[in-house]
Amino acid sequence: MAVVDEPTTSPDIGGIGHRVRRHEDARLVEGQGNFVDDVVLPNMLHMAILRSPVAHARIKGIDTSAAEAVDGVVAVVTGSVMAQHGLAWMPTLSGDTQAVLATDKIRFQGQEVAAVVATDPYVAVDALELIDVDYDILPAITSPQQALADGAVLIRDDKEGQADNRVYEWEAGDRTATDAAFARADRVVSLSTHYPRSHPSPLETCGAVADVNSVTGQATIWLTSQAPHAHRTLFAMVAGLPEQNIRIISPDLGGGFGNKVPIYPGYVVATAASLLIGRPVKWIETRSENLISTGFARDYHMKGELALTSAGKILALRVEMLSDQGAFYADAQPTKFRAGLFHVVTGSYDYPAAHVVCSGAYTNKAPGGVAYRCSFRITEASFLIERLVQTAAYELGIDPAEMRFKNFIQPDQFPYQSPTGFVYDSGDYPNALRTALDEVGYERLREQQIAARAEGRLLGIGIAHFTEAVGAGPSKQYDIAGLKMIDSAELRVHPTGKAILKLGVKAQGQGHETTFAQIVAEQLGIPVSDIKVEEGDTDNTPYGLGTYGSRSTPVGGAATAVVARKVADKAKLIAANLMEAAPDDIELQNGRLFVRGTPDRSVTIQDVALAAYSNVPEGLEYGLEDVHYYDPPNLTYPYGAYVVVVEVDPETGIWKVQRLVALDDCGVRINPMIVEGQIHGGLTEGFAMSSMQWITFDEEGNCIGSNFTDYLVPTAWETPRFELLASCTPSPHHPIGAKGVGESATVGSPAAFVNAVIDAVAHLGIRNIDMPLLPDRVWAAIHSAAG
Ligand code: CDP
Repeated sequence: MAVVDEPTTSPDIGGIGHRVRRHEDARLVEGQGNFVDDVVLPNMLHMAILRSPVAHARIKGIDTSAAEAVDGVVAVVTGSVMAQHGLAWMPTLSGDTQAVLATDKIRFQGQEVAAVVATDPYVAVDALELIDVDYDILPAITSPQQALADGAVLIRDDKEGQADNRVYEWEAGDRTATDAAFARADRVVSLSTHYPRSHPSPLETCGAVADVNSVTGQATIWLTSQAPHAHRTLFAMVAGLPEQNIRIISPDLGGGFGNKVPIYPGYVVATAASLLIGRPVKWIETRSENLISTGFARDYHMKGELALTSAGKILALRVEMLSDQGAFYADAQPTKFRAGLFHVVTGSYDYPAAHVVCSGAYTNKAPGGVAYRCSFRITEASFLIERLVQTAAYELGIDPAEMRFKNFIQPDQFPYQSPTGFVYDSGDYPNALRTALDEVGYERLREQQIAARAEGRLLGIGIAHFTEAVGAGPSKQYDIAGLKMIDSAELRVHPTGKAILKLGVKAQGQGHETTFAQIVAEQLGIPVSDIKVEEGDTDNTPYGLGTYGSRSTPVGGAATAVVARKVADKAKLIAANLMEAAPDDIELQNGRLFVRGTPDRSVTIQDVALAAYSNVPEGLEYGLEDVHYYDPPNLTYPYGAYVVVVEVDPETGIWKVQRLVALDDCGVRINPMIVEGQIHGGLTEGFAMSSMQWITFDEEGNCIGSNFTDYLVPTAWETPRFELLASCTPSPHHPIGAKGVGESATVGSPAAFVNAVIDAVAHLGIRNIDMPLLPDRVWAAIHSAAG
């Protein structure tokens, strides 16, 4: 493990490792961004969606006549109108089907029932109230346990052959070896816990502006999309439009966090309405619509068991997980992995056997399971193993840090094959945890904890060590809806030495316009300020699967490095011609191409760029550009060690964070400042999950959390101060040694917060309090333990 390397390029070039200020910020903070809602087209209509007030009901009839009669209403679209065009149902990115507008039944509160298209957005919303829907209410199923119980009412009676509410049953690992390890264990420690349902709630809600030209058949659709290319292909499949006639433009996005990966009915209805009416149609979701009906996250009921020796060595892990998927399996999971990459649940520890059984159930809730700032269900996995290791430490009377040191995968074990089939690329876990513990003063804190208890104060020290698996992914294993999870970069250097880089990924605020330019600057020596980065317009960027699950840097960043190297190779041929030297003797450093051994004989990359269009060697094509589609050989495995110190008030159950030390290792950091920003965001979300953020439902399936009064997200006021540390173990197979980081802190930190609170009360025999750790829950646990 090294500390972060010094940059090799000069600050004016600004390659890898420079804290370059984000190019995009000037535009975004000065109100010059271009979001979907900023798109205004001539003759544009506005659409509003009628959503079901009930969670489960049969539709007996829909009367739209009063709404149609309103002045300004152009059309009212129902499921039966969509059905006439074969669009009442659509495929999901997880291989299920989803109602676009309900025709037969309502399956969750907030489900799309009808849409009004009008000349004015307020007229459209007002007319919704005049649509009369006759519902025959059915009992609502609000938990996966209820869904899978004998005799439960069938939610997906639309699906042929679906006899119960089971979405999937999936397993990983080796059951026999795991059972054998449990049979010879000295101790078995178990923990049942629930990772609650939450919502990514980006600042910008979802929306679309669809402009379908009925004469040319050209459909231009501005969409809040984290994956514009994949969405274009799915649109072609759903709507039967020729793919070359569909142009998806995902402009600036006000956050996504996984919420903008699924295809939502609103997108499809707006497009269909534009096609049928022959005018552009805009649909922008309200905050409540976004919270009630778009992609939820988490909602995993998990039971984990560790087989242990009495000395605390882990022999095996057994996990049973039950997921609440909502009414449609509508997130986006790689097809081979029904519960995402949850089987990375073995964590940062070395043991020979594990067995994981995952089940998913349909319930009368909005479709859920999006990768909310995490890579395909790894947040839940990381939470379970870290809570479990902590529990085992208390049960065996071993210090929680010591418990981890006893079981860590050691640096010389990489590449490490996990018992559920992952090949971790690199890391130095003991050093990471030791560094974080030293920073926080762990031994001294343990002494202070004992002294505090004597005074009736509850001090807790929580640890989490996580390993993520990001950068999906190798084509041999990873596809979504059949599309391999490759990504691409196209680089064109202009005659004046300036460049444009076009990508298949799509930022939602991560700073791609800066960091991807830095990768090119590193390879070619073109100053970062001379490189324009373009994403999101499917007509003008190469194909890719988009941005989620920290895949931009591991996959799109790798594609960028490789395409820049291809361009550099051509630049060397041109430079060799200009200097009358052998191409193999040309070196490129800091923007200068020189003959090896004689640095005085050189030309600049800008000289070469001009020559590429004016003076190329015989037989070489003019121009200086290339494209690369990158198929990663493996995922990358960022990791980190987090330590949280809290004090719990025994009288109120309120807990306050005193310190948070976060060490993150994402290999080579392209822009350390942006990485730190990403980690700050992730830590804040981890704090949110552990302290306040959850979506609940009453027994009729009404969603509690349709606004920011019921669904709490932390502000700067509540958020604790973070102390960040870094280490660097480059990924050996990645072209620039970088690993992803976008989601790491959200994955790693919730367990650290919860472990800290549990650590404060563990001496009372308390082993678990489910998230979020609301003061009344903590208070009740303390008081019931006290007897
Ligand atoms: O896919 P997404 O952009 O959300 O995640 P990521 O690529 O893992 O990381 C988020 C951002 O952090 C990237 O877009 C880069 O701007 C930056 N980053 C970096 O500078 N160095 C790394 N090794 C990883 C990420």
